[in-house]
Amino acid sequence: MLFRPTVIGLVALAASAVTVSALSLPVQVPGSLDGRSPGPAVAAPRGPPPKPKKCKKKLKRKAWHTLKKKEKKEYIDAELCLMSKPATLGLPATANRFEELQSIHQIPAFITHGVGAFLPYHRLHMHAHERALREECGYKGAQPYWDEPRDAGDFINSDVLDPVTGFGGNGTGNGGPQPGMGCIHDGPFANFSNNLGPGYFQGTPNCIYRFVNDTVSLMSSQPYVDECKAKPNYLKFWPCLEAAPHVGGHGGVGGKMLDPIASPGDPIFYLHHTWLDKLFWEWQALDLPARLYDISGPNLPDPFAPPPTPDPGSLPLIFPTFDKFPPPEAFVVPPGSPQPQGDPGNVTTLSHVLDMLGVIPSATIAEVMNIGGDLLCYEYV
Ligand SMILES: *[C@@H]1O[C@H](CO)[C@@H](O)[C@H](O)[C@H]1NC(C)=O
Ligand SMILES: *[C@@H]1O[C@H](CO)[C@@H](O)[C@H](O)[C@H]1NC(C)=O
Ligand SMILES: *[C@@H]1O[C@H](CO)[C@@H](O)[C@H](O)[C@H]1NC(C)=O
Ligand SMILES: *[C@@H]1O[C@H](CO)[C@@H](O)[C@H](O)[C@H]1NC(C)=O
Repeated sequence: MLFRPTVIGLVALAASAVTVSALSLPVQVPGSLDGRSPGPAVAAPRGPPPKPKKCKKKLKRKAWHTLKKKEKKEYIDAELCLMSKPATLGLPATANRFEELQSIHQIPAFITHGVGAFLPYHRLHMHAHERALREECGYKGAQPYWDEPRDAGDFINSDVLDPVTGFGGNGTGNGGPQPGMGCIHDGPFANFSNNLGPGYFQGTPNCIYRFVNDTVSLMSSQPYVDECKAKPNYLKFWPCLEAAPHVGGHGGVGGKMLDPIASPGDPIFYLHHTWLDKLFWEWQALDLPARLYDISGPNLPDPFAPPPTPDPGSLPLIFPTFDKFPPPEAFVVPPGSPQPQGDPGNVTTLSHVLDMLGVIPSATIAEVMNIGGDLLCYEYV
């Protein structure tokens, strides 16, 4: 059997690049990798989180394709602003605010994928990004999302990849971590040099590279979304979402987006995960009394508590290919990687702490289950 039930996320998919027969997660090896620093866990200075204000006016998160030209430009300008603001938190190898937000994903990637915290963790990460755009770069709007079913099977012609009003198109030529993996050469982010990635590597400047694959992007299509949304509880819903629509967006754009650890180095990441967050909320909203606080799943990926089989019904799971994928050693979990905090046992609970590395205050899963609550205060329109 090529893919065991435990292979539900991109982290696990990365592991399969190491060796197809050993489909467990990357093992820890001591020492630095290839002379490059994998980077230890970081304790950024942080005080007690201030109590959030009462949620009165919810931010309205909209689909990218519905934004006016001017709104798209405001969003992209704010992202460029984050890229130009110096880093201040002392997170390894980060040069700017955009990369500090990327660290939130890179450093604990091992404990945020293939686990119950997957969806709440990324929900808070999207909020951190939205907040940085608004509070530090004068952005007035909400975090937009990519309505992926609209473009599934045809990402290459998506508004999101527009070279003028969007994020630039497919990669061309070389320049990525593998031959044939091309940097993007158009759009507003063409020349961005990213100090994080591939994988856990830090301090190895690289471009935004893409390899659009519209076979894999089919997993972002409506039939997959419908299969996942029909799941009766979180323990069945989350693995379906992580294995199918989640991989559809990452593998459909490809390149840096297909990097399970450093993917927020491509700003499309935030549109993709905001869409997944919307699906999470829509699923919750189908039965709020039962689902508003429904959380479960393992705290750590295998072996502590094998996750359930992702089950997109009769639809096939499409696995991205790895011949153009970054080197496997980039995905070896660095020594001293963070461990889950806040849960009493091996199962993810509402007390699980979602560590934002000091970029914004950390929060518990309980605090992010309601998107209209005081901390998050947004809605999807
Ligand atoms: C994206 O570019 C790569 C070459 O860099 C190419 O092989 C691939 O087919 C392109 N994707 C699409 C959907 O055109
Ligand atoms: C990227 O650099 C090239 C060459 O210096 C330049 O022509 C182009 O305008 C730059 N693009 C952006 C979006 O900064
Ligand atoms: C796109 O992904 C599919 C599924 O993994 C794979 O079979 C195909 O070779 C990929 N296409 C390219 C151009 O890499
Ligand atoms: C967590 O799981 C491991 C492996 O099954 C087990 O040895 C350990 O006792 C569990 N810990 C708790 C607190 O349940």
